[in-house]
Amino acid sequence: MTFDRKIRIAPSILSADFADFGREIRAVEEQGADWVHVDVMDGHFVPNLTFGPPAVKAFRKHVTTFMDVHLMIAPVDPYIEAYAEAGADLITAHVEAGPHIHRTLQAIRATGRKAGVALNPGTPAEAVAHVLDLADLVCVMTVNPGFGGQKFIDMTGKVRRLREMIGDRPVHIEIDGGVDPGTAPMLVQAGADVLVAGSAVFRGGSVSNSAPYGENMRAIRAAAEAAL
Ligand code: DX5
Ligand code: ZN
Repeated sequence: MTFDRKIRIAPSILSADFADFGREIRAVEEQGADWVHVDVMDGHFVPNLTFGPPAVKAFRKHVTTFMDVHLMIAPVDPYIEAYAEAGADLITAHVEAGPHIHRTLQAIRATGRKAGVALNPGTPAEAVAHVLDLADLVCVMTVNPGFGGQKFIDMTGKVRRLREMIGDRPVHIEIDGGVDPGTAPMLVQAGADVLVAGSAVFRGGSVSNSAPYGENMRAIRAAAEAAL
């Protein structure tokens, strides 16, 4: 994948039908998803539980675009290899998940996968100042992680600061939480290029009626691109 900052829409399958992931993944890809975002939660770092490596490996078979795996787990280092082997293209770890984010990003890169670093709403941009050369993506959380469908928390100031800090490094800025056609414009204006969206993509549709997924993604993309 060559680096560019064109707008990418990454549906979070946390909002998909949990009994039908294969078809849900194929449906969002057919409807125009750029990436597929997989939210891994451990019931410890965040108060919710989702997917272990075998589940992610099963998703992989259906992903033809790019599998973006967001690890909301602590500790994270012991599981990096397993999620890489499960087929993640990019693995994101939280800066708050342990004392050694630098080592964590080195470990992700050592698997040959792209490396992301996520920041909770309460964590300043400066927390990643010394790891930007080890990262392919910075994920700015615009909700407290753990659940889909939460109220958006405005982090445009943080995004703007990160965009300055990143300069001409090939590092994406991803936004995760409460992204919809209303919030996307200010985020891309501030410098974001990857937009994760769960409820705003899956609402109104289903595997047997996936056209709304496409309409929802086009609405987010159009709002974002119009703001550039
Ligand atoms: C939150 C997850 C998000 C979430 C986004 O912990 O990391 O990816 O699914 O969901 P929405 O778009 O519904 O806020
Ligand atoms: Zn996520």
